[in-house]
Amino acid sequence: MPSLTPPHRPGQVPSLTPPHRPAQPTLIDPEIDVHLTPDYAARALREDARDGLTAERKWLAPKWFYDARGSELFEEITRLPEYYPTRAEREILAARSGEIAELTGARTLVELGSGSSEKTRLILNGLRDHGTLTTFVPLDVSESALREAAAAITTDYPGLVVHGVVGDFTEHLDKLPGEAPRVVAFLGGTIGNLLPDEREEFYASVREVLEPGEWLLLGTDLVKDPATLVAAYDDSAGVTAEFNKNVLRVLNRQLGADFDVDAFSHVALWDPDNEWIEMHLRADRAMRVLIPEIGLEVEFAEGEELSTEISAKFHRYGVEAELDKAGFTPGAWWTDSAARFALSLWQAV
Ligand code: AVJ
Repeated sequence: MPSLTPPHRPGQVPSLTPPHRPAQPTLIDPEIDVHLTPDYAARALREDARDGLTAERKWLAPKWFYDARGSELFEEITRLPEYYPTRAEREILAARSGEIAELTGARTLVELGSGSSEKTRLILNGLRDHGTLTTFVPLDVSESALREAAAAITTDYPGLVVHGVVGDFTEHLDKLPGEAPRVVAFLGGTIGNLLPDEREEFYASVREVLEPGEWLLLGTDLVKDPATLVAAYDDSAGVTAEFNKNVLRVLNRQLGADFDVDAFSHVALWDPDNEWIEMHLRADRAMRVLIPEIGLEVEFAEGEELSTEISAKFHRYGVEAELDKAGFTPGAWWTDSAARFALSLWQAV
């Protein structure tokens, strides 16, 4: 017979009095500034879908990969044998967090797109052990992800002021809280998802919010042999293919679209002129897709490709030139032991 009372382990007597807990250090609730209207994401998706799917060469922005399922698939990607960037960056952070603290003396760590809390903690630990850290400012478009990350850090770093910002790092960098000197961390190689013009605009806007002497900590994947690069974006287990196709599921759910997800194939190719990986979704047959929420009907020819992501790879000289142009001087350049990925530090002039 099913029991209505929760089972308890044999030998354990359920107690009617609450267990005694030792005094906990006081936790200050994280403050969260919301710079996005509640319907920001919904409006932005409709706009992007309309712009991208009516273009001569169809495209969708990579930020739409990351609903709950997409974020899970990305986590899975970071554990694939072919996808080295996450491990390489973690190796660098583990080795260099002390130097980051010594060089910057940062009181505030700002993290843009603060998904990767594990890497954040490596930096926070370095700054805490150095004795300068007072404030952590995670910034993310997803309010739920941000609240979760802010709460976890608040629990694990008693005394640290956590001041989250809900915003889009390409648009809401104008008001970043925290005591100077601040380090703004932009990790994971996400900078590679921006087109060169967008990159320039991004670096300029980071420079603009910083005071002279403050810092940018940047993770960039490096140019290497194309076979290694393509394998990282076309893994043998097919996880990246699922991740790529997930953007169609996002459109189906959010905009009522009727994409036949199985009628698209995952394509990852290396563009040697632009030195970036391009991910596409190729229509395996001709089809018409209805997107009622934006009143759109989209035709795909057989073999037509929808571009979903670029992931640019860098050389040291290129990164240096772009940051110099934006008003930064080099502070440090570190790579992992196999020189696949770089973490670099830049000081605002
Ligand atoms: C997290 C955006 C840096 O471009 O390598 C992984 C996303 N796309 N596999 C990247 C991604 C396909 C990733 N970033």
